[in-house]
Amino acid sequence: MAEAASSENKVSVEHRGGVAIVAIDNPPVNALSFSVRKPLHDALVRLRDDAATAAIVVTCAGRTFIAGADITEFGKPMQDPDLRALIALLETIEKPTVAAIHGTALGGGLELALGCHFRVADKAAKLGLPEVKLGLLPGAGGTVRLPALIGPLMALDMISSGTPIAASEALEAGLVDALATDGLVADAAAFAAVKAAEGGPFSSVRLRRDKIEAVDGEQLEARIKAIVGKAKGLRAPVACTEAVRNAVLLPFDEALAAERTLFVELVASDQSKAQRHLFFAEREAAKVEGVDKSVKPRPIHRVGIIGAGTMGGGIAMAFANGGIPVTLVEAAEDALQRGLERIEKNYAISVSRGSLSEAAKAERMARLSGTTDYASLAECDLIIEAVFEDMVVKKGVLAAIDKVAKPGAIIATNTSYLDVNALAASVSRPQDFAGMHFFSPANIMKLLEIVRGRETAPDVLVTLLSLARTVGKVPVVVGVCHGFVGNRMLTARGADVEALLLEGASPADVDKAFTDFGWPMGPFQMWDLAGLDISWRNRKALGKTALIADWLCEQGRFGQKTGRGFYLYADGRTAQSDPELASHIADEAKRLGIAPRAISAEEIIDRTLYPLINEGSRILEEGIAARESDVDLVWVNGYGFPIGKGGPMFWARQKGLATIVERLAYWHQKTGKDVFHPSEWLKAKASEG
Ligand code: COA
Repeated sequence: MAEAASSENKVSVEHRGGVAIVAIDNPPVNALSFSVRKPLHDALVRLRDDAATAAIVVTCAGRTFIAGADITEFGKPMQDPDLRALIALLETIEKPTVAAIHGTALGGGLELALGCHFRVADKAAKLGLPEVKLGLLPGAGGTVRLPALIGPLMALDMISSGTPIAASEALEAGLVDALATDGLVADAAAFAAVKAAEGGPFSSVRLRRDKIEAVDGEQLEARIKAIVGKAKGLRAPVACTEAVRNAVLLPFDEALAAERTLFVELVASDQSKAQRHLFFAEREAAKVEGVDKSVKPRPIHRVGIIGAGTMGGGIAMAFANGGIPVTLVEAAEDALQRGLERIEKNYAISVSRGSLSEAAKAERMARLSGTTDYASLAECDLIIEAVFEDMVVKKGVLAAIDKVAKPGAIIATNTSYLDVNALAASVSRPQDFAGMHFFSPANIMKLLEIVRGRETAPDVLVTLLSLARTVGKVPVVVGVCHGFVGNRMLTARGADVEALLLEGASPADVDKAFTDFGWPMGPFQMWDLAGLDISWRNRKALGKTALIADWLCEQGRFGQKTGRGFYLYADGRTAQSDPELASHIADEAKRLGIAPRAISAEEIIDRTLYPLINEGSRILEEGIAARESDVDLVWVNGYGFPIGKGGPMFWARQKGLATIVERLAYWHQKTGKDVFHPSEWLKAKASEG
């Protein structure tokens, strides 16, 4: 007998003998919105008091168990009952309560399951507390109950990393009590019936103290220290460690109260707002103008890559890691072998570090096949050229691909700057053509700019978006312009840095201002790492110059690889300031009549970050990026913009667009440089308030 328990039908109850099956149905991911919490609470109260009900199973309809609190409700007044009240209610129920878990039990979903006496999971289920990724910690007892159930050390890892674990591991750890074999709900109901027949009392997680008492305090503190050391200025991972320590040191209810205090602090923090913004930004990025939901992706069973150099090899690894077979093509056998050896070496390093097993390495290598014969590309569904960044070279390669690719295969270029429409003209099927701009190292960096050419077909975009997500990338669709979104903005960011040097800042001053802001490195460290010769070549091709960088290159100082660049690298790695460069800069400044002065970190940020934002706004004005959050994704995932600041456009909004316009105008007036000329877009949005 099934009865609808809520006016919106989000929670229903079915009685199977003495077992009540409470089913939540709140698509797409059964988030614990108020519209679920209220009827769930009412249903649980009724079943608690119902003499005919001997046991209760909580389950979910659709693709997953509860994937968490409803993130859209954060920061708004919470309507009662909140999740903590629901869990407290569960703990008052004296008949066995069982969570039946499929899909992903995440965040508040897992916390609710921890409020049950037992958990039965589908074999493919995943369980985790990912709140840290949103700049939060579990705020409904997760940091107190999980350590009690599986031990503080493992709980600390799960909570501070946010990474879910598989059902089999959860079983081993005692997080779930049984894996379903015959069908989840049937098995969970049978499990509940057996427990009811055995009789109580049933121990709620709050009463289990053995694993808390058994923890090795020194080991816990060492683990906490390591996590705090790697927090990179983010508060949430640190707060997670504090909460787990509280779970060990404080009585249960005091630890719960302390967790609440930390949660309230985090949920109001700018960092968490930024991280929540990025969560929704990733989902928004999947929505592309002019492409409706009915457009289906083309199947991609094998990817072909031309060029086994650093970039091509990295792209090949990205697909092999994501489970997709790759055909790697090089012009000559020796270059191909070198490329394959480099890939094998990269995997071997991961194995030696313990981040990859030998078996996984072998699996990934088995997905890679190399050839010098273009004809092999005929079996590929997607073919990406990753050859030298030169229009003529790339056009030649694309024309050759066009000859062998099967009908319907997608052809892509991995150019970082070139005109994708011009490249599309070298194939006979421009509708099947797009840019795929990976970031180096392509097997590591998450960003993928998908460049939409004038004629790129909607299903090509849908295919590339879904494929990118399959292999763990963060894709953003962008339009055609020199350098697309990321590199075009990068150029703007760097447009005034040499002037900073001439006016009195050292490379180390600039880099320190950047790292203090939260960037992983400053521009001079980055250029030295990437090799100064690359941008020198680009400048020469475009007829441009850079006073200091050109001088360095003329001296053969190309950065780390030559031991000298903006810094000296006596041991090949550690950057040291160079008095010779300092005196050269001073001479140049004198020659140009620039009087040196002290330059503050604030000014350095002004003159680098504001041009970056300004260029981002021009990109939005031109429609090269569809939305501000797309620009943020590009910068957080491709260039190390600090996650806790949400990306340049989010940061600009927090700062106030009117302030940005004002500062830009100030610097524009002082320097006369176009990068500071505030865009019409910025001015218009600033006046909207
Ligand atoms: N609250 C509100 N909305 C949520 C949500 C949540 N906790 N989790 C997902 N959604 C929404 C997404 O925004 C998306 O909405 P859209 O279709 O309008 O863009 C939709 O649900 C589907 O999510 P998506 O991530 O695209 O689906 P997926 O199948 O790839 O992944 C999850 C599903 C559950 C793994 C993933 O959504 C996720 O990790 N969610 C967050 C889990 C979390 O952090 N929980 C803790 C919160 S306290």
